[in-house]
Amino acid sequence: MVDQAYKDFDEDRTAIERTLDLMSQELTQRNAELRHELAQKQLVQDALIAEKNEQLALIKKLEEAHNQLLQSEKLASIGQLAAGVAHEINNPIGFVSSNLTTLRNYVNSFLEATAVYDGLMGDVSDAGRQQVAAMRAKLDLDFMKDDAVSLLEESAEGIRRVRQIVQDLKDFSHVDEAQWQWADLHKGLNSTLNIVNNEIKYVADVVKDYGLIPEVQCLASQLNQVFLNMLINASHAFKGKRGVITIRTGQLDGESVFVEIADNGCGMAPEVVGRIFDPFFTTKPVGQGTGLGLSLAYSIMKKHQGRIDVKSQVGEGTTFRMTLPIQQEEVLP
Ligand SMILES: Nc1ncnc2c1ncn2[C@@H]1O[C@H](COP(=O)(O)OP(=O)(O)O)[C@@H](O)[C@H]1O
Ligand SMILES: [Mg+2]
Repeated sequence: MVDQAYKDFDEDRTAIERTLDLMSQELTQRNAELRHELAQKQLVQDALIAEKNEQLALIKKLEEAHNQLLQSEKLASIGQLAAGVAHEINNPIGFVSSNLTTLRNYVNSFLEATAVYDGLMGDVSDAGRQQVAAMRAKLDLDFMKDDAVSLLEESAEGIRRVRQIVQDLKDFSHVDEAQWQWADLHKGLNSTLNIVNNEIKYVADVVKDYGLIPEVQCLASQLNQVFLNMLINASHAFKGKRGVITIRTGQLDGESVFVEIADNGCGMAPEVVGRIFDPFFTTKPVGQGTGLGLSLAYSIMKKHQGRIDVKSQVGEGTTFRMTLPIQQEEVLP
């Protein structure tokens, strides 16, 4: 009896053990499946994240392309407009300016004549002298004498400014009048520095950190214009505190070179940086800036299949980096 009971028990135990074994196998199997599923899900998730990042990068690229397109559209239309406006303004400016010179001579003659009359007043009767004095007082002639001269001077200054704007507009729209040539950028930088030396020498020291660069195929006079604008902008950035302008050049790879113009001046806030290449954008007082310098620089660099990068920090300074190919793939007209 007992024997039978032991036997049954043993059989039961074996059965239970087998079942447990089976269950454990099943569990391990299920576990492996779950792990696999999880890994699969992870893979899908990774792929989704990668795809999302790719899309974000694409959107960013699209935005950049869109901005560039906007920029060049704006430049093209502003260029046409500028050429027309400059042409139209040139004529009236010419005659106003020449008339002002003539008028100035006339006023000087009148002043000379009144001085002579003044000298002759001694020979005039008392009644006559009183009459002249009354007229002088009524017309405020003494004031007019001085003011006429300063009015003419102010007008001449106004015309000078308009001329400068017209010149900038012309430079801006006639960007294409030049020859492609192989040029030494250091020579260009040095001669440009000479031209602006007067603007710079009182406000900053210039440090030349020139690297070894080959001659570059370019529109040399136009690149000089870019350097000139950058240097003048830098010279305006010091606001009364003497600073340093550093000009750095170097070769990047076998194919391109860079020119950096850096200042330790006032720097720019990000929202200003975002607009500096817009035609007519300026933060300078009326008469000091036309807001065309950097948009001109931008279009010149674009024509060279180059680029301009800006780094700026308020209170620290600004660095403009022009990068351009040594040789043009295709010389644009
Ligand atoms: N080196 C610089 N430091 C600080 N601000 C600058 C610098 N260069 C350019 N800017 C800013 O960019 C604006 C546009 O420059 P630009 O196109 O040359 O026009 P403009 O010099 O006539 O104002 C300037 O008014 C100024 O605010
Ligand atoms: Mg400028």
